[in-house]
Amino acid sequence: MPVTKAVIPAAGFGTRFLPATKSVPKEMLPVVDMPTIQYVVEECVESGITDILMVIGKGKHALEEHFYSSRELEKRLEDNEQFALLKKVRRISEMADIHFVWQKELNGLGDAVSHGRTFVGNDPFALLLGDTILKGSDSSQSILQQMLEIHDAKNASVVALEEVDRDRVSRYGIAGGTNITDNLLALDQIVEKPSAEEAPSNMAVAARYIFQPTIFEYLSKTPRGKNNEIQLTDAMAAMMKDHEMFGFRFTGRRYDIGNKLDFIKTNIELGLNHDDISGELKDYLRTLARKL
Ligand code: UTP
Repeated sequence: MPVTKAVIPAAGFGTRFLPATKSVPKEMLPVVDMPTIQYVVEECVESGITDILMVIGKGKHALEEHFYSSRELEKRLEDNEQFALLKKVRRISEMADIHFVWQKELNGLGDAVSHGRTFVGNDPFALLLGDTILKGSDSSQSILQQMLEIHDAKNASVVALEEVDRDRVSRYGIAGGTNITDNLLALDQIVEKPSAEEAPSNMAVAARYIFQPTIFEYLSKTPRGKNNEIQLTDAMAAMMKDHEMFGFRFTGRRYDIGNKLDFIKTNIELGLNHDDISGELKDYLRTLARKL
């Protein structure tokens, strides 16, 4: 059975990017010419996902508006014969069935994921964080697609992993396990934001997961953990004791736009790959570099 459903948590406050995120959801901040969330949805669509549930909260209505069709705007573009733009705008509301659910209290990522239970039912599903773009070094397949292939072969949950510097492990969920191949690990440990001493490795969980629906049972039994939030990592740690779970060490780049520096780096790197601006941006950066 192919995986066709995805849950995208996007209810978080975005405190690391205040004041920009006071009234604009961080997922709506543009990277070159698209809001971040659209890159995430495009990755889903490229990977065969047809139904998406976004978990949103207070101040996040712009996400709904972005994915609903706008008759007025479409008519205006049509009247003005701006057909290329019209095509782009129409595609946004047509590319997948997108549903929204409201997380009333921000009780953590684990709680946000629990809001997907009814939508997901008894099927395996993809989970993508709405503030993170992942780009594979081989552009022929998205990271999510590669993970779905592993899921198909193993019939078990899979999580994307990225190597990080040892002095940065305390910012992430860190996983540990046994290497099966160069890029696949059988996981036996996962810890949320560990100190460098506690960390089982330097492999950070990287915003993409394929879960068997059993994750919801573990989430429902997970007490509040770090920061007094229900941590997805804690539910995964419990699930791993009873069920196989794999880590996929992807080759490529993770762009977490929820912090200022990464947001700027993301715009530069994706701008350098964007047909409309790459040439001029390169020239600009070269000139700038000479002055630094
Ligand atoms: P973050 O750890 O980035 O938290 O959440 P945050 O609140 O969004 O941002 P900061 O740390 O305050 O700057 C990781 C993902 O989980 C979602 C976020 O929207 C983001 O996609 N999330 C987090 C929820 O949907 N609900 C929550 O209660 C917490």
